[in-house]
Amino acid sequence: MSGDRILTLRVAAAQALTPEIRCLELVHPLGLPLPAYEPGAHIQIHLPGGFSRPYSLALAPEPMGVGVRRYVVGVKREPASRGGSASVHERVAQGDLLAVSAPRNTFTIAESAQHHLLLAGGIGLTPLLCMAQHLHARGLPFTLCVFARGPRQLAFEPQLKALGDKVRLHLDEPQSPHKIAMGPLLSDRAAGTHLYLCGPAGFMAAAQQAAAQWPEEAVHLEYFAPPASDADDGLDEPFTLRLARRAIDVSVAADQTAVEALKNWGIDVPTSCEQGICGTCVVRLAHGEAEHRDYCLTRADRRHKVALCCSRAKGGVLEIDL
Ligand code: FES
Repeated sequence: MSGDRILTLRVAAAQALTPEIRCLELVHPLGLPLPAYEPGAHIQIHLPGGFSRPYSLALAPEPMGVGVRRYVVGVKREPASRGGSASVHERVAQGDLLAVSAPRNTFTIAESAQHHLLLAGGIGLTPLLCMAQHLHARGLPFTLCVFARGPRQLAFEPQLKALGDKVRLHLDEPQSPHKIAMGPLLSDRAAGTHLYLCGPAGFMAAAQQAAAQWPEEAVHLEYFAPPASDADDGLDEPFTLRLARRAIDVSVAADQTAVEALKNWGIDVPTSCEQGICGTCVVRLAHGEAEHRDYCLTRADRRHKVALCCSRAKGGVLEIDL
């Protein structure tokens, strides 16, 4: 990772919310305000063991002076994890100091929406709870639908209760009275409604399929990881990256990303996830057609932006504002 402002923060609290989800509360060691953030934002946490992972900020910002009082994240332990989530669960304790990037946001609330429909699968609740609290505090219309395997897997229960009847719950357990049928929920879109999705790959695929008739600009997605079906087929073509401000042509080999090729020229592009999810490496597109491979830009964004960690050129040359 490079380029983001790095903060050293103290773990003010670390507690299990469910058997699988651990919550970290991060504050400035001297009690100073932290950089402000908008709902939907994430931070990158550098963890014991050399791992660095992005985590969504789970609660609406609590203003303090020119910034905010704390960052709160919820981290699900992935059964197969030998990396980031295991490190959060096993190696981080209250009082520890962690290096954390300042918040970034690629999952923003559409200010023009007349209603916000937030669908959270599992730990995908975190950015959507933050949005829901923000909307609730402003008296703006929203519905938060939370999909969980069962009550024991449900995190941030007190915060969900505080949102009252704006929250609808779906529990997978067969006898549960809490059910939401995704198809009927998304079959009719009331004019002005925007949809926000965050959850595991299967959940995202099911919700997107159910919302296939929604206008793309009204659907906002936050992925944890690239969809499995998008595995690299290894058939990339080389291309030329033209840097408009420097008047330089940089060759990107078939087995290189644009970020790697630029690094060879001594040009560091900030990166974080390197998977097209976080938006850290996005730059302005000046000319040419990109083969977009990210999961963070909207169709409108893609007309004038490109994620350099993963995207490539269609037609051999891509000119960027760098
Ligand atoms: S580094 Fe995350 S989108 Fe490129």
